[in-house]
Amino acid sequence: MTDTNELTLRPRADADLPRCVEALAGVQAADRYPVDWPADPAGWLTPHDMTDAWVVMAGADVVGHMALTPPGIALAAAAGLPQRRLLAVARLFVGTRARRRGVAALLLDRAIETAAARGQTPVLEVETAARAAIGLYERAGWRHVGTSIADWTTADGRLARMRTYVAPAPPMNSSHSAPS
Ligand SMILES: CC(C)(COP(=O)(O)OP(=O)(O)OC[C@H]1O[C@@H](n2cnc3c(N)ncnc32)[C@H](O)[C@@H]1OP(=O)(O)O)[C@@H](O)C(=O)NCCC(=O)NCCS
Repeated sequence: MTDTNELTLRPRADADLPRCVEALAGVQAADRYPVDWPADPAGWLTPHDMTDAWVVMAGADVVGHMALTPPGIALAAAAGLPQRRLLAVARLFVGTRARRRGVAALLLDRAIETAAARGQTPVLEVETAARAAIGLYERAGWRHVGTSIADWTTADGRLARMRTYVAPAPPMNSSHSAPS
């Protein structure tokens, strides 16, 4: 169990990666997220075009993780906005012992703030079986804008069905300057 008062949200440092991988190992064992353990987990946590990564710390432990990347063409098309106006949330997970304490909600708020400061809107995809994640996004007011079939197979052996979500507008006091 994690006390929300002791949580710190900050940019991920390279030195955090071993603890991020450790937390991911617990998540993968519990949730099959990702479905298969990556050959290079630190690399998987660091998509080549990543713009930012954030961690939530509880003391020295990484309890939450999120990367931000430019969206691919298909994701932007599903969201119905130009790629340059979007920022994709990826590699989002919370350690199994830190759940239901608002850790993921903190990370999503940071995604919205970060995107707003760049004149962008966060977008993401989630597999239809990821019930906790879908509950999280819908509780936080993200909008389901479409569902598509992916080219990879879920842990229960079917083609993944990906739901696309677009973030709600940032709070009024956030800085938001749309690019020209
Ligand atoms: C999805 C996940 C990130 C949620 O993390 P979390 O820190 O426990 O979420 P929060 O505590 O911020 O939850 C905020 C709200 O989301 C919803 N929610 C979170 N987990 C839920 C669950 N298991 N079932 C239903 N709703 C859930 C609830 O409305 C919750 O508010 P409440 O606790 O007051 O009811 C976490 O379960 C996880 O890492 N899952 C495996 C990896 C994964 O699926 N990543 C997303 C890939 S797209």
